[in-house]
Amino acid sequence: MAISPEARPDRGEARERQVRTIFSEIAPRYDLLNHVLSLNIDRRWRRRAVDRLELPEGDPEALVLDACAGTYDLSLELASRRGFQGRIVASDFARPMLVEGMDKVRASPIVPVCGDALRLPFPDDTFDRVMVAFGVRNLSDVAAGFAEFARVLRPGGRLVVLEFTTPPNRLMRGAYLFYFHRVLPLVGRIVSGHPWAYTYLPESVKEFPGPGALATLLEEAGFAEAEWGYLTGGIAAIHVGKGAPAGDSHRSDADSRGSTVPSVESR
Ligand SMILES: C[S@@+](CC[C@H](N)C(=O)[O-])C[C@H]1O[C@@H](n2cnc3c(N)ncnc32)[C@H](O)[C@@H]1O
Repeated sequence: MAISPEARPDRGEARERQVRTIFSEIAPRYDLLNHVLSLNIDRRWRRRAVDRLELPEGDPEALVLDACAGTYDLSLELASRRGFQGRIVASDFARPMLVEGMDKVRASPIVPVCGDALRLPFPDDTFDRVMVAFGVRNLSDVAAGFAEFARVLRPGGRLVVLEFTTPPNRLMRGAYLFYFHRVLPLVGRIVSGHPWAYTYLPESVKEFPGPGALATLLEEAGFAEAEWGYLTGGIAAIHVGKGAPAGDSHRSDADSRGSTVPSVESR
């Protein structure tokens, strides 16, 4: 099937403009399409991602960054946890996405911030945890994004990344590719009214590094250890980047780091 040129992921600053434009334009329909197109599985995936934060309960000082927060669904999942008493900074560079979700975050510990994940407006060592759902794939420079997340994480903190991937099993991959490249762009176009945003989505997944390569990027960005596991037969994956233990610098050089731990959890 022919791909419209606008839907092909750009590079560098052009990619940033492309991504900001897409999400700004689809913001009013984003939540609806998200849940419809994923058959609501996305909610379960976000629950799994929040589980992996392993944030101690009851700490009123806990500070969590939700990078590429969109309309706040990941932040809301964390905020809804009974033991959570801290604050969540939800940052995104597409202002219409943050505005669209505002009604959902009133009277919550979620603080929206309009900003670029590659140039976070926070000092070093600010957050106890950083989490990103379906955002990393859109960054114009994934390695730079991971380095920026490592910079703002406190020693002993951890980064949790939820992202689409391509299923390793041939049968599952076939069904997934059919759905992703045929059904999803069509339904997305009809419901959002946007001519190519939902063609960009599968194209961006196609060119995104596999889970093993992503774990290596995490280590290269300064995480002491990187674990990952598949979700739902490999349609998505969760990566956990563990910061250096408190007392060490989380920006230690490559020689002092541990190795990637592939803890493949099929769920
Ligand atoms: C697919 S949405 C995910 C939103 C939300 N995390 C969720 O789980 O539904 C991707 C979001 O990442 C944001 N984004 C992409 N690149 C970004 C960047 N460089 N800085 C900040 N936000 C970015 C987009 O604006 C968009 O809102």
